[in-house]
Amino acid sequence: MKKGFFITLEGGEGAGKSTQQRRIVDWLLGRGKTVVETREPGGTKVSEQIRQVLLDTRNAGLNPTAELLMMFAARSQLVQEVILPALDSGTVVVSDRFADASYAYQGGGRGLGAEAVRQVEQIVLAGLQPDLTLLFDIPVELGMARVAGRGEADRFEAESVRFFERVRNAYLERAAANPGRFRVIDASQGEEPVWQQVRRALEEMPGL
Ligand SMILES: Nc1ncnc2c1ncn2[C@@H]1O[C@H](COP(=O)(O)OP(=O)(O)O)[C@@H](O)[C@H]1O
Ligand SMILES: [Mg+2]
Repeated sequence: MKKGFFITLEGGEGAGKSTQQRRIVDWLLGRGKTVVETREPGGTKVSEQIRQVLLDTRNAGLNPTAELLMMFAARSQLVQEVILPALDSGTVVVSDRFADASYAYQGGGRGLGAEAVRQVEQIVLAGLQPDLTLLFDIPVELGMARVAGRGEADRFEAESVRFFERVRNAYLERAAANPGRFRVIDASQGEEPVWQQVRRALEEMPGL
């Protein structure tokens, strides 16, 4: 049924996801592909409203399970409104984060564990998975240094180094458990060498 191709970019703050997403989209367009870009949480009217709640530092009292469900509520809307229709019409979808981010942030960072995330994922996604997931792996302190000048921190960016270490480790566990779909990119290198790694991963994909 699905004719398109689904690429997700994962990794912590300052890993270079947004920077490389632009290059990926240019590369795909250069090969004549139709491309839809999305970001999480967000990407639809409702999902962007949920994003506001999730990132608002005034919502410090949001509990981890509520956070997990809101992430998947926003994701469900994005999948139904944008991702599935695009894939069905043969479009390449490139998403800045997707379900693996919940394994990393809510499962790892917030400590809910992978099993809780898996249960919600099963209800919401019913088996939908990316065809390729690029994990931009970077030491936490280096990523934080890159985004230090970005302005006021949101509810996630305000978290501790230890939180982001848990996020990083959960991402790496996720990659190790799903080697067919994941490519781990050494994101600590400069923009150009990182792109070379990404381009190689794209070129190796049948169907792109
Ligand atoms: N490979 C790189 N080396 C050094 N700086 C980078 C690299 N990639 C991106 N940057 C810079 O680091 C900051 C964060 O990059 P960004 O792409 O926004 O990361 P993310 O979207 O993963 O948070 C930006 O200022 C960007 O210009
Ligand atoms: Mg970004």
